[in-house]
Amino acid sequence: MTNPRIACIGAGCSGAGQMILCEKYMPGSIVAFCDLSREIFDNIVDEYQNDRSSGETGDFKTDIGYLRPEFKDIPFYTDADKMLQNEDIEAVIIATHCSSHCEMVEKCVKYNKHILLEKPIAINEEDVEKIWQLLKNYPKVSTVNFTMRGAPVSLAAKRHVENGDIGKIVSVQYTNNVHYGDGYFRKWMRTKEKIGSLLLQKATHDLDIINSVIGLKPLKIAAFGSRLVYGGNMPNDLYCDDCDKKWSCPMSSFKLKLDANKYFPPKRERKCVYAKEIDIDDNQTIIIHYEDGVTASYSQTFNVPHGAAQRGANFIGTGGVMKLEYYGDYVDGPIGKSHIDIFQYHQKQDSCIHEVYDWGGMSHFDGTEYVMLGKFDQLCGRETEIKNTIYEGYVSAKMCLAAQKSIETGQVINLDLECTFKNY
Ligand SMILES: NC(=O)c1ccc[n+]([C@@H]2O[C@H](COP(=O)([O-])OP(=O)(O)OC[C@H]3O[C@@H](n4cnc5c(N)ncnc54)[C@H](O)[C@@H]3O)[C@@H](O)[C@H]2O)c1
Repeated sequence: MTNPRIACIGAGCSGAGQMILCEKYMPGSIVAFCDLSREIFDNIVDEYQNDRSSGETGDFKTDIGYLRPEFKDIPFYTDADKMLQNEDIEAVIIATHCSSHCEMVEKCVKYNKHILLEKPIAINEEDVEKIWQLLKNYPKVSTVNFTMRGAPVSLAAKRHVENGDIGKIVSVQYTNNVHYGDGYFRKWMRTKEKIGSLLLQKATHDLDIINSVIGLKPLKIAAFGSRLVYGGNMPNDLYCDDCDKKWSCPMSSFKLKLDANKYFPPKRERKCVYAKEIDIDDNQTIIIHYEDGVTASYSQTFNVPHGAAQRGANFIGTGGVMKLEYYGDYVDGPIGKSHIDIFQYHQKQDSCIHEVYDWGGMSHFDGTEYVMLGKFDQLCGRETEIKNTIYEGYVSAKMCLAAQKSIETGQVINLDLECTFKNY
């Protein structure tokens, strides 16, 4: 079978990163791209072709080895409609900022393309419903980019629960302490207008992991949230580079690199974290009522030192407990090993199933590339264990929107999901 002809709308960190992954696994598959500016794309391609580090490749960095020289010259458009009209394209990666996902999905549906959409599928109720109505019976492939879902450790956790290794699920306690949380407040992701909330930006992955592992339908949600660390009265266009407190402010990118050896982001991600425009919460706690009486809690916070990074859950069942720790053995940098530990009710205290999953330096706990491979399988009509259908994206986005609504209204929100969960 020949490689599908793929284009990308929004060729930034994620979009250009995914294009490079397409070229790695299906050389020549990328045929065109569209962006308002080709700056990030050019920087990223430059990193691969000229071995120059701009720090732009971020989460989607890979070891492609060889990137064809003419890749930089593939047709570039600033108007998505023109690209879809002019080019012979079968599938489209949509990786623009979240607020325009819906508009881009509508265009791709109009031109009858396979759709590889970034998460969250959209950031408000109207767009999420619109996308669901457009794609729920769409005859072409439509996926969402839940990169953690393809991590070997996530798949193993799901299999353990399916095998009954902890009996019937009773409850889930999930924690997400984000040690690079300040990064969200230094770049475009720091306003409600751009991302809705950090639930839609971050928790959407983790809620999907809970849904995927336990395979049950969420019914009701309640949540609390607040902003206690970031935001303030500083100018929106102030960068640490130009601030007279560059070497004294404890949250300066420069000082954090010097004192704590924290990741030093590219210039566009070095904005002041005390800017006026910051209006999203920096910590949230959710409780969820699933079908069959199963309960779950999820908590995320964005100002954690790297030594205290934590992501994962206790899955508590009638026959035991499964501890899933994404950060397990972790050193900031290209090293990390996730763990699964299963303690069973009818075993002696020190007996346990202990599994280690080395990420091998790959992002999203080794999930990014397996998820991409799962999409290629879907595009080529092959079976895959890593199905990121739009369905999962819809359910998780609805949960995040309901949690935000609960934070704003103080009410418990009924999810009223139209779909059943039988294809989990
Ligand atoms: N799955 C994951 O793990 C993961 C990781 C990071 C980002 N994301 C998602 O990827 C999307 C993009 O995030 P990013 O970090 O790559 O941002 P980015 O700023 O690096 O890239 C976004 C690109 O989209 C372009 N763009 C914006 N509006 C456009 C429009 N109307 N038409 C064409 N191009 C447009 C911008 O110019 C930019 O080049 C977001 O939805 C984000 O939630 C997902």
